[in-house]
Amino acid sequence: MIERDKIEEIKRQTDIVALIGQYVPLKKMGRNYRGLCPFHSEKNPSFYVSPEKAIYYCFGCKKGGNAINFLMEYEKLDFPDAIKRLAKNLGIEIDTTRGLRYKEIYEVNEEACQFYTECLSKDIGRRGQDYLTRRKLSLDKLGDFRLGYAPASGGLVAYMRQKGFSVERLQKAGLISTSREIFRDRLMFPIFNLSGRVIGFGGRGIDDYIQPKYLNSPETPIFKKGDGLYGLYQSKERARVKGEVILVEGYFDLLSIYQHGFDSICAPLGTSLTERQAMLLARFVKKVLILFDGDLSGIKAALRAIGLLIDAQVDVHVVLLPDNSDPDSYINAHGATALRALLGKATDFFHFYKSVVKVESLEQEIALIKDLIQIIARIQDPIRYDRYLKYVSRVFGIEIATIEKEMGKTSPAPEKIPRDPKVSQEEKLMAMILIGYEHFSLVKKYLHPNDFAEEGIKRLFKRLIKEQNFDIADLSDVVDEHLREKLLSIIMRGEPVSRESILEAIRTYKGRVEKARLMQKINEAAKRGDEEARQLLNRELDALKRELLNIHVESARKTENVRSE
Ligand code: GTP
Ligand code: MN
Repeated sequence: MIERDKIEEIKRQTDIVALIGQYVPLKKMGRNYRGLCPFHSEKNPSFYVSPEKAIYYCFGCKKGGNAINFLMEYEKLDFPDAIKRLAKNLGIEIDTTRGLRYKEIYEVNEEACQFYTECLSKDIGRRGQDYLTRRKLSLDKLGDFRLGYAPASGGLVAYMRQKGFSVERLQKAGLISTSREIFRDRLMFPIFNLSGRVIGFGGRGIDDYIQPKYLNSPETPIFKKGDGLYGLYQSKERARVKGEVILVEGYFDLLSIYQHGFDSICAPLGTSLTERQAMLLARFVKKVLILFDGDLSGIKAALRAIGLLIDAQVDVHVVLLPDNSDPDSYINAHGATALRALLGKATDFFHFYKSVVKVESLEQEIALIKDLIQIIARIQDPIRYDRYLKYVSRVFGIEIATIEKEMGKTSPAPEKIPRDPKVSQEEKLMAMILIGYEHFSLVKKYLHPNDFAEEGIKRLFKRLIKEQNFDIADLSDVVDEHLREKLLSIIMRGEPVSRESILEAIRTYKGRVEKARLMQKINEAAKRGDEEARQLLNRELDALKRELLNIHVESARKTENVRSE
């Protein structure tokens, strides 16, 4: 474990504006900084960074947190690695030999990966080896991918137990379900995060009739299918240098052409491309070359990917393979040179779009033009935008002015920051407490966990009492995601909190909420004719009134103190 104090020190010293500013151009807007959100695609900035509160928050996609959360989300680091990175920036030394939160699953995955690779190299992996030969994959050239084989007879559990891993941990990592090993008689593809750690597995059935043909690890805290890309870890440095990456559909396609030297390449993890994956690619490259099957589903997938990639502000070119072939079968039938030639003839998304969308009537042509205009309107790079605009003009014989007029009509209304989400009094007060956390010793004098009715708020308040040095962004293990987002959004909007303002807020809150609560109980007691309860409650009401007065006096007194200082 990294010591808590160290973490606090690192958080305190980190300049969140400078940190995020390295990745996202930020402009000062009043007390905050604002920029285009790196986590979803948008044209109007709704991503805010507050230097005072040391948090970021996007009003569009609701992602937010502190400097550590930012690095975890953006660089796909786990908690200890994010801390390490921040510490390094600050020149602080930390001992992270024993990491934190996700360590358990990483260790299991790493050990399982070794088990599978070992199996592939031994007699028990005969079926795996034969399969590789049949499909012309050469392990020598694919060392970075650490391919493996999961034996039909299993063996993972026994192996792991011998290494000291419990069945429970295997379950947590998604390797077994109700003590049955989920990968059997499959060729194993470990999936890496950007730091090279194994986060999950894909496995292909050795026999073609096995269903499902491909099986992926279930989602775990470290493995989210829509987040990562297969092969990106192995390709990322070259992708950055080349500024370009090839996107294929499948694991096998990727490996098959990688071993022929196409080494800046990645694939989604068994689903169609997601917005998050597109944004991830945009961090490494300026251009994506889509290399999909030429069948209808390949075309559809390409059209979908184009929209997402354009929104992520990368240029897109497309190569469709002849019908009934995929990159793997193509390279095996025609060789690397032929594939390279084909890639050289990639068309930009505009011409691709035009060539695959059927146009048999004027109406269809107008619809196509409108679709294209709509996509082009989302390009931010002025030169690229201009180039595509002129394509439309030239190819369809339409005046530029007409196109831009159409764009004005079709481009979505600027996203406005939602003014006020539905926020309860308790939530508002809690946000104030968090912003003005330095006044907590005072707050705790007048508020009790039972003053809150919402479970999440109550839990959070208890935690605040228990803990010192609470970080307003670090709510994830106390409140659910929805409440966390809500609180961050109120905090980001909130004014700085003084002693007096928090005391006044508590007074108002107790006055309004607590009084109403007591009054209702008193009425109920009266209705029941429960005189004893009614008196008791009345006394509580009196106590509350006295307390409210006290708070008022305290607030006035502190003000005087401050003034006389
Ligand atoms: P091979 O048949 O081994 O050559 O695979 P392929 O990549 O040519 O297969 P296909 O085009 O059918 O699938 C493309 C990708 O979709 C695969 O690499 C997998 O990631 C995914 N996929 C295909 N079938 C399944 C399935 O049954 N389950 C899951 N989860 N993913 C699949
Ligand atoms: Mn294939």
